[in-house]
Amino acid sequence: MQVPLLDLKAQYATIRDEVVSAVTEVLESQLVCNGPAVRELERQMAEYCQCAAALGVSSGTDALLVSLMALGIGQDLPACRTGGKCPGSPEVITTPFTFFGTAGSIWRAGAKPVFADIDPETFNLDPAAVERAITGRTVAIMPVHLYGQVAEMDALLDIARRHGLKVIEDAAQAIGAQYKGKPAGAFGDCGCFSFYPTKNLGAMGDAGMITTQDKDLAARMEKLRNHGQSRQYFHDWVGGNFRMDSIQGAALSVKMRYIERWTERRRANAERYNELLADVSQVVTPVARPHCRHIYHQYVLRAERRDELQAHLKDRGVASAVYYPLGLHLQDCFKGLGYRKGDFPQTEKACDEVLAMPIYPELTDAQIDYVAGQIAAFYA
Ligand SMILES: Cc1ncc(COP(=O)(O)O)c(C=O)c1O
Repeated sequence: MQVPLLDLKAQYATIRDEVVSAVTEVLESQLVCNGPAVRELERQMAEYCQCAAALGVSSGTDALLVSLMALGIGQDLPACRTGGKCPGSPEVITTPFTFFGTAGSIWRAGAKPVFADIDPETFNLDPAAVERAITGRTVAIMPVHLYGQVAEMDALLDIARRHGLKVIEDAAQAIGAQYKGKPAGAFGDCGCFSFYPTKNLGAMGDAGMITTQDKDLAARMEKLRNHGQSRQYFHDWVGGNFRMDSIQGAALSVKMRYIERWTERRRANAERYNELLADVSQVVTPVARPHCRHIYHQYVLRAERRDELQAHLKDRGVASAVYYPLGLHLQDCFKGLGYRKGDFPQTEKACDEVLAMPIYPELTDAQIDYVAGQIAAFYA
């Protein structure tokens, strides 16, 4: 049996006619950049994430960058002095166990990424470690809702409040995830989503979204995504071209109708794996905290002899992946930050042990049974 990590063609086949018709409408209108189809997606996302505003942008990475810029972190935007002001290079605390774009956006905004270690159970930022990393230069916290489970927001928001810090949620992997009944993206000053095709809600190319409860901040971000322009060819700030293509808005609006159904399939698949792997003592199945709605962007095991298991599965037609093999504190481009191996033991241990298994909604029970059976056979 073959089990791919993801089967985008299978999903597309179920919605092909609707997507083609929505995209064709955009093409006929020729309103192809940041047009009405993007406005409709923004309306849907603001409602889904229980936020006052949502802004379509070019990618999840750009969502993070625009958020930092709009909060005045790392650069001095005239008339945008809302925070981020401190002597020297402002610091943003985040996790080293995430996709590169998280810390890369902090760096590109002109701020310094400061890392704090993760909670080994959830792989998300450990609030106690965040508190220890705060200095006089800290201006913001960027928690990542890794694999689709919201970080410990009560504790993180409490730290932010006590220290006067901004909070930018990296919700790239967490659309539809909830913490105590509240959706990802509704907690911080901004929530940043990625619609990269492999995400739970994937575009037909690159796209992203920023959510916020702050309408003034939304107005600043709206300007920044279009070169800081106040009216055509008059620029208040240096922004960039961070606009979303209208065909992405149209395709994503169609997919929004299915996101809950797909999420429930992922959750059911996770449940099935959990049951089948309960007696395999060499793997630890994902821990979903009781107050969290995990949306399983990834279903990630901790596995003994991880690399051997991965090779064994590959030989038997089962794809898997390592997210992520190296902590961001040890990446070459961040050498200048001065971190060393051993600085974040939980992150480094996770890098050696994690293995993401197929979890996509179209996976059949027979495929899940086969994957779990092959994992059990490896250790037997
Ligand atoms: C945690 C995290 N942050 C940021 C990003 C960046 O999103 P994008 O690829 O849309 O730029 C991604 C996804 O790739 C991600 O998984």
